[in-house]
Amino acid sequence: MALTQLLDVPAPAKLNLFLHVVGRRADGYHLLQSVFMLIDWADTLHFERRSDGLLRRHDANGDAPPLPAHDLVWRAAHLLQSASACPLGADITLDKRLPMEAGLGGGSSDAASTLIALNRLWGLHWPRERLLSLGAQLGADVPFFLGGHNAWVEGIGEQLTPIALPPARFLVLKPPTGVSTPAIFQSPDLKRDENMATIADFAAADATDTFGFGCNALQPVASRLCPDIEVGLNWMATNGLSGRMTGSGSALFAPVVSGFEAEPLPNGWIAKICSNLSKHPLLEWI
Ligand code: C5P
Repeated sequence: MALTQLLDVPAPAKLNLFLHVVGRRADGYHLLQSVFMLIDWADTLHFERRSDGLLRRHDANGDAPPLPAHDLVWRAAHLLQSASACPLGADITLDKRLPMEAGLGGGSSDAASTLIALNRLWGLHWPRERLLSLGAQLGADVPFFLGGHNAWVEGIGEQLTPIALPPARFLVLKPPTGVSTPAIFQSPDLKRDENMATIADFAAADATDTFGFGCNALQPVASRLCPDIEVGLNWMATNGLSGRMTGSGSALFAPVVSGFEAEPLPNGWIAKICSNLSKHPLLEWI
């Protein structure tokens, strides 16, 4: 029997263990090297099939400001619907738990989970490769979430090599202020010529350095645009942690040992203890 709904579909966040900018394409997009790692902090989506072909996005969390109706989730649904010429539609409810403008990939992960869920709900049976080519049109981080594995990532985010990472726990710290990704990438101060690293370089870092390999090249520019990043890094240092920014920020992270307890934070700051995931929770759906 055809599926009519898919409830509690997770869209996990990611951390960039490091992020190097190694060049720039003619279209302005930056060539990166990074390790993307999934964590157990997620948005949740609910999908209900519609036979009239309409696509509607609803917000589940009453307190948060509503997202635009035609956000990345809607755009992902619309792209899949038109690319597959599917006559079905969907009501999509987004329970937004991940902070935005954080570098945690929440919007990209929502879009990836939407492609994966609607592929199933609509009975399309598209293979991963076809979804990946749609994902790349939606945003540079979307292919990673469709790939299903922690990954060594190159190109603008579309070249994925699965990588095994040791299980670990992290403190993720989100300052009250966010930072715009395009503003960082457009900055003349951005260092764009990091030396090329190899997976072997990363793998050769001993266990304690796995999470401290390289640097986040966006961090100096982001810190200038968003002074709370420096405040957060100092707070982490006071708590004995060596923090680093994820993606284009403003969220920060540091490995922690179990039982770690931090000092209380001022209002508006979010601190969350997360574990890494060995694979995407929807890996088996495609
Ligand atoms: O693809 P996404 O929408 O996530 O990217 C947001 C912006 O970040 C892009 O418009 C681009 O300015 C910049 N960007 C970049 N190089 C990348 C990823 C993003 O220049 N690899």
